[in-house]
Amino acid sequence: MSQNAGAPARTVGDTPKGGSVLGFYAPKGTPRPPRVARAEGVFLWDTDGRRYLDATSGAVVTNIGHANPRVLSAMAAQANKVTFAYPRFFESDDSIQLADRVCALAGDGFDRAFFVSGGSEANESALKLARQYAVVTGQGSRFKVIARDPSYHGSTLGALAVTGDAGTLALYGPMLRTMPKVPAPMSYRLPEGQTAESHAMACADALEATIQREGPQTVLAFIMEPIGGLSAGAAVAPPAYFRRVREICDRHGVLLIYDEIMSGAGRTGAFLAAHHWAGARPDLVTLAKGLAAGYTPLGALLVPDHIVDAVAASGGFVHGHTYFTNPLSCAVANAVIDEVVSQRLIERAATMGELLMKGLRGIADRSPIVGDVRGKGLLTAIEIVADKATKRQLPVAFNAPAKLSVHGLNHGIALYNRRANGGAFGDFQMITPPLTIREGELGELLLLLERSLSDLQAEIENNGLARF
Ligand SMILES: Cc1ncc(COP(=O)(O)O)c(C=O)c1O
Repeated sequence: MSQNAGAPARTVGDTPKGGSVLGFYAPKGTPRPPRVARAEGVFLWDTDGRRYLDATSGAVVTNIGHANPRVLSAMAAQANKVTFAYPRFFESDDSIQLADRVCALAGDGFDRAFFVSGGSEANESALKLARQYAVVTGQGSRFKVIARDPSYHGSTLGALAVTGDAGTLALYGPMLRTMPKVPAPMSYRLPEGQTAESHAMACADALEATIQREGPQTVLAFIMEPIGGLSAGAAVAPPAYFRRVREICDRHGVLLIYDEIMSGAGRTGAFLAAHHWAGARPDLVTLAKGLAAGYTPLGALLVPDHIVDAVAASGGFVHGHTYFTNPLSCAVANAVIDEVVSQRLIERAATMGELLMKGLRGIADRSPIVGDVRGKGLLTAIEIVADKATKRQLPVAFNAPAKLSVHGLNHGIALYNRRANGGAFGDFQMITPPLTIREGELGELLLLLERSLSDLQAEIENNGLARF
């Protein structure tokens, strides 16, 4: 008997106006998701009193768990002082302190921070700052930003231009200048005769070949997620790949941008995933999600002083947003960082990540539909397959991760997923709990996940899609 049996009767389109935002995504009549009433620690409760374990930190956001009392009181204290002041007219103590702290945590080469409202805005800022830097340093011919396929860098048009998602680009591509793509080093299904290492090096070589083909003097930057996010399901490349990419970018004067919107802020057991690979430091880094951990919308761009100096000396960055560097978000993010540091959450991400990985491998040993387990720290994913021996995927139209989420809700576990590339690169489910998760809660996560997977397995069999 599932813990949360008895779905609510609400459906999409059941109000004449307004109503659920799901009306933009699902046809009328589709059952609506649970309505959240409150959240605390690693749990959320809906308005019917059902409890859900937050196994993915929402969209990999709530790194310090929900309802942290110190962050909430810092939020209220700041709201009582000042919520908004435009940063080009008033600076604020908290924005300066936040920049100092984030740059210190990011380490050498990251001297300046630019704060925005989320991940897409952070990537837009990175692309535009890189372009302006090239122009003011006499390299105006450089404008192409090479990216990887698959990848996800956000949903605004600029971020989309560098996103590796053929389906989305087929829709919006005519509205923008799509940028060149090179293969991302996936680790599970490999080209014939390749190992994960040789494939990753071939992917790095494809970067160099693409720079040559496009004309090195036209290439501005290379942007990549150091650990795969939603589009690559926590795929981790071997260290040699990161070094090779750095060498190639240096050889051709191409700026290297790490999109650490999902992997940054401590989730992988280091403040930046970039810290895991010596000799592979990027030039620019973007952060969001865990940086303010869902307590306020916030993204950041971290850059070396010489880039900011050159742009400022030429008249200043031709870019900004109404809510950038707003005092309330900066104060809240400072309080989140206090928690990350005082609770030693970066170190916890590493140790709890090992326990999680062990538990997930155990599930993969027992479950006929879990073909792969991968990731680093608490940025992990499982891959669902029809046949482990051949790595055969389930039919894309079946949408196994979405089905798993429905079973998860019935068992009291919230499993966020969002399909990139129409599922063409595999059926991943991210497993990314808050960094605050305790051992007992991790055990519960694994138990509820395994029950949800068993239900999915039964559904696969009932639909005649595989026999186990
Ligand atoms: C790697 C990566 N980059 C960029 C984004 C876009 O961030 P946002 O949704 O905050 O605009 C995301 C969001 O999932 C992401 O995972």
